[in-house]
Amino acid sequence: MISALQQARYAYIPKLPAVLSQSGPFAGLKAGGATESVDNQDEIRAIFPDTYGLPTLEFVAGPKKSLPAVKAAVILSGGQAPGGHNVIAGLFDALKAINAESQLYGFLGGPSGLIEDKYILLTEELIAQYRNTGGFDIIGSGRTKLETVEQFAQVSKNCQKHGINAIVIIGGDDSNTNACALAQYMLSKQTGIQVIGCPKTIDGDLKNDWIEVSFGFDTATKVYSELVGNIMRDANSARKYWHFIKLMGRSASHIALECALQTHPNACIISEEVAQKRISLDQIVTELCELVTKRGERGDHFGVVLIPEGLVEFIPEMNKLIAQLNDLLSLRKDSFEQLPDMAAKISFVAQQLEDDSALVFNNLPALIRAQLLNDRDPHGNVQVSRIETEKLLISMIEEKLAKSGSKVKFTALAHFFGYEGRCAAPSNFDTNYCYSLGYTAAALIAAGKTGYMASLRNIAKAPEEWIAGGIPLTMMMNMEQRHGKAVPVIRKALVELAAKPFQSFAAQRKTWGINTEFVYPGPIQYFGPAEVCDQPSITLALEQEK
Ligand code: FBP
Repeated sequence: MISALQQARYAYIPKLPAVLSQSGPFAGLKAGGATESVDNQDEIRAIFPDTYGLPTLEFVAGPKKSLPAVKAAVILSGGQAPGGHNVIAGLFDALKAINAESQLYGFLGGPSGLIEDKYILLTEELIAQYRNTGGFDIIGSGRTKLETVEQFAQVSKNCQKHGINAIVIIGGDDSNTNACALAQYMLSKQTGIQVIGCPKTIDGDLKNDWIEVSFGFDTATKVYSELVGNIMRDANSARKYWHFIKLMGRSASHIALECALQTHPNACIISEEVAQKRISLDQIVTELCELVTKRGERGDHFGVVLIPEGLVEFIPEMNKLIAQLNDLLSLRKDSFEQLPDMAAKISFVAQQLEDDSALVFNNLPALIRAQLLNDRDPHGNVQVSRIETEKLLISMIEEKLAKSGSKVKFTALAHFFGYEGRCAAPSNFDTNYCYSLGYTAAALIAAGKTGYMASLRNIAKAPEEWIAGGIPLTMMMNMEQRHGKAVPVIRKALVELAAKPFQSFAAQRKTWGINTEFVYPGPIQYFGPAEVCDQPSITLALEQEK
């Protein structure tokens, strides 16, 4: 059964930038000058000799041409983000506009589908069921890394078997880093297979001058802001709970910042600020205690605090502790794993750590100490996102208030929002943006390009005014240390403290802290006036403000 809203959404026709709605995938291309990578130019040029320095591209009006049919492959890679289905729909429609005989292969379960040759042929009937919907279920996604020469050779073999001449990778910074290496491989082996990336991640950390936002960020932050607003209204009605809400976003705090700008919480911690100003865990807890006390003295025994998912990694002493734990548990893995229970593991670790880290570790609540020792990722690292920072802060505030003899009432509840937003029905912004990204990817394929990411700019404006084009993947890259080795990767965009979104938050947070100035954004609206339905995120609007 299909909901009435979904029925209505099927009928929504996504909007394209004027150049693409007028010229379709036949738009001409205006090339900019040669490009450089964001850093380590010599190393990046040496690793990607065939795609380094390509010009940026912008579509301009062009006449309809007769073009041969394209056989393209598409994968969804990494975590779900609202709008993925529309990237595929835009790609499909543009490929069919290029030539009615074009075909789109959807490889299943992410990069592993490409390697293992698991696919479905995408048809109009199938795509019709997924237009303007959330989720990645049309072909699924996965986190297999596509990075070895053997994998590339297998992908090339599978594509050649089907006569596929282009691959579209819809993913975040890691997946597009892999897309860049795959494009280089395909060129160096003269396979004739083009590779185009599309920027996806709710985290919002894949952005630069050419990629103004990754898709999914807009919808996910609107969903979380609705939920935060609902909790705020409950807090303001009951007036007895402090709510500590952790928000997804991995390392970057863009999601927490955007939700703060939308809802005006009493506090929102920004990891990047914590790292830059070297704010300790004790300082964070002390400041929150002061806030609880000040509001308590006014009779306001309630509040809302937003916490970014990756916070612990950014607190200097926790970062050091986590690094030592990663080393220790990989060097002493066997002895550690033989220990009979968590109590023995905790005491073993506490004895091996350097003095300052041991002190930090011993002062953490038992629950958090256990979480730091559990759940390692396949590389042996602590999975920081699984650490319940919201509970850590609550417990440390309770302890500090009790120690100080404070009589202020503090009853706190912990929440974590992440999965609630990743498959939401895309906002009008993401619906249009994703469809346009897919369409742009097909136009880049039609123009014979490879090693590019589909790019849309000026996107805080109406879609008709968006500028469609492509940015060379190599342009976003630099060298970074990964597991002790310098490797080329797309540079992650963390929150910049000097930029307008953070500055706007910093200018208002004090007032939001003491007073109750909550904003209740309510649910995403799909039909209605543009000022209600078509607004971009506040982050994007501030970034684009002239
Ligand atoms: P991507 O970077 O792959 O888009 O994923 C983002 C994200 O939603 C993060 O915010 C979160 O930390 C992570 O995925 C959760 O991963 P998983 O889906 O494997 O639980």
